[in-house]
Amino acid sequence: RSREARSLGDVLEAVQNVYRQALYAPAGRQALAYLRRRGLTDATIERFGLGWAGEGRGALLEALRGQDITADQLMQAGLMRVDEHGAPRGELFFSRVMFPIRDRRGKLISFGGRTLGDAQPKYVNGPETALFSKRRALYNLDQARNALRDPGQTLIVAEGYMDVIALAQAGFEAAVAPLGTAMGVEQLELLWREASHPVLCLDGDAAGARAALRVAELALPLLSPERSLKFCRLDPKDDPDSLIRRDGPPAMRQVIDGARSLADELFQLMLSGVQHDVPEQRAALKKRLEASAALIADKDLASEYRRALMDRFFASAQRSGGRGGPGRGMS
Ligand code: UTP
Ligand code: MN
Ligand code: MN
Ligand code: MN
Ligand code: MN
Repeated sequence: RSREARSLGDVLEAVQNVYRQALYAPAGRQALAYLRRRGLTDATIERFGLGWAGEGRGALLEALRGQDITADQLMQAGLMRVDEHGAPRGELFFSRVMFPIRDRRGKLISFGGRTLGDAQPKYVNGPETALFSKRRALYNLDQARNALRDPGQTLIVAEGYMDVIALAQAGFEAAVAPLGTAMGVEQLELLWREASHPVLCLDGDAAGARAALRVAELALPLLSPERSLKFCRLDPKDDPDSLIRRDGPPAMRQVIDGARSLADELFQLMLSGVQHDVPEQRAALKKRLEASAALIADKDLASEYRRALMDRFFASAQRSGGRGGPGRGMS
């Protein structure tokens, strides 16, 4: 067929075929072994359409020869680096495990890629294109939506590709992740189209806690009785993938079932690092909590939040006695 007839989506599908075949070819042996070593079954690898962008530059164009796909089209699809004149200059992805990214309807829109080792950057995500807008996409949203037809499933937001895949393999199939950027309002809206209380299950490290607080504050003005969030807590060294690998799916189930309300999480996150016996710090915390409640547009909900946060605030004064707030993980 003619060049014009190849849509960007078509081009991406052709590329995914190349990546997928490369994973099972002799040259992809290392990549396949890497994924298996990380605990993925062949069925999971297949289900997520994982692939391998061949060793070194030039492999993709070579594999696509005879398919009527130009370097220019690959550039528009976000698969080429671009020089200062806007001309394509070699593939963006090579020597990486490839994760296809689909929109909520299942249409292929981009890729993410991970190195097999510790080379930096560990992950690369495709650039913004006519099809791909990072802040309007969530990894695995298409499969998560299908999974949510089962009322036993919970919509879970994790940090990364491997968390989503590990969660799905463990039976938590309604898992999604943002794509290398901080969560934004558009992504919250996407989540709330599918579930009233999505559960954030970010990494347990300090970066994960900071990201959780950011999302909580982002959500505040938009909250209503039907639109909120819940928050999981993981050990500082864990993410959902590592937790499931070490302790198994039941441990993950426990974490999800123990997810806290947004009010609880907000309070705990703001409390951390505040010294209970320092009036200045307590007064600043109180102001911050009141300001948070004031952000909520829904007036009834705002007054409920003010009360809930102040209850916690005054209870924390009685409970205290030492320096510093209760650490992360206590409540
Ligand atoms: P993490 O840094 O938590 O990934 O980034 P991870 O859990 O260690 O990854 P593995 O388990 O070693 O494979 C979480 C997400 O942040 C984005 C990616 O989307 C990743 O999945 N990220 C991370 C990037 O975009 N670039 C990076 O260099 C690192
Ligand atoms: Mn992380
Ligand atoms: Mn992680
Ligand atoms: Mn890691
Ligand atoms: Mn990880």
